[in-house]
Amino acid sequence: MRMRKKPNLLPRMERCAQLLIRDPAAQRGRWRELKPDARAVWLEIGCGKGSFSAEMAERNPDVLYIALERVPDAMVIAMERCQAKGLQNVFFIDGDAAHLRDYFAPGEVDLLYINFCDPWPGLKHARRRLTHPQFLVLYRGVLRDGGEIQFKTDNHDLFEWSLFQFPKGGYSLSQVTRDLHAGGVRGVMTDYEEKFYQLGTSINRCVATKEHLDPEPAFHPIVGPDPDRDPRRPTENTPSGSD
Ligand SMILES: C[S@@+](CC[C@H](N)C(=O)[O-])C[C@H]1O[C@@H](n2cnc3c(N)ncnc32)[C@H](O)[C@@H]1O
Repeated sequence: MRMRKKPNLLPRMERCAQLLIRDPAAQRGRWRELKPDARAVWLEIGCGKGSFSAEMAERNPDVLYIALERVPDAMVIAMERCQAKGLQNVFFIDGDAAHLRDYFAPGEVDLLYINFCDPWPGLKHARRRLTHPQFLVLYRGVLRDGGEIQFKTDNHDLFEWSLFQFPKGGYSLSQVTRDLHAGGVRGVMTDYEEKFYQLGTSINRCVATKEHLDPEPAFHPIVGPDPDRDPRRPTENTPSGSD
C-alpha cells in the first residue's frame, strides 16, 4: 500500500497506545490473557486502514481480534477507527507477516484473514505473495488443526494460483467463489473491497482449512523484503532458504 507519510504519526499512535502491542513476541503463547473469556482468536494479516477489522471486532465481541500491518501510516487509521468505536477486544501489531511464528505459539490462532493482499504478479517476487507456499507453511505453525484461512482478492490470477497452492500446503478448500457479491453484498467489506465493488470488479473468496499433516512440512524462516525491518535478512554470502 503506497501512502503519503502521515504528519503527526507518533502522537496519533500514542493516543491509541492501549490498542498497540509493542512487543508481540513477549505476548507469544499468552494472547488469550488479553481476553480470557474469548471464544476464539482471529488474526488479520495486512489490515490496512482497518474498516474490516473495526467492523469484525464490533460484530464479534466474544472474539479476541488481532490486526497485523507493516505500514504504520495505514495502521494508525485502523487503530483510530477501533478506538472511536470504544472496542475492547481488538489489538494491533506493527509488524511483518514473515515473523508470525515469533508472535504466536503453535495453535494459538483459530482463524486467519488475508484480504486483498498485494498480488506481486511477476515471478521474481512471487515469494512475497501472502499465499506463497512458504507463507502457507508459516501459517500452519500458528493455526490450530481445523483452523481456517479466509482469503479474498480482486486479482483473478492470484486467486487461481492460490487455489492451486492451498491443497499442496495441506489445506482443504471450501466456499470457493469467483463472484462473492453476485447476489448482493455478502459479509463485511474491506476498504479495498468497497472500492472494487463500486467499480464492478468481481471479488474472489475461498476458505482454506488446515488439515493435520504428519510429518509437518519443513519451515524455513522467511526473509522480508525490507532490510530495515528484518534483522534476519541474509548478507550476500548467506543462502536465502529453499524453494
Ligand atoms: C492492498 S492492501 C489491503 C488492505 C486491506 N486488507 C483491505 O482489504 O483494505 C494490502 C495491505 O497488506 C499489508 N501487507 C502486505 N504484506 C504484508 C506483510 N508481509 N506483513 C504485514 N502486512 C502486510 C500492506 O502494507 C497493505 O496495507
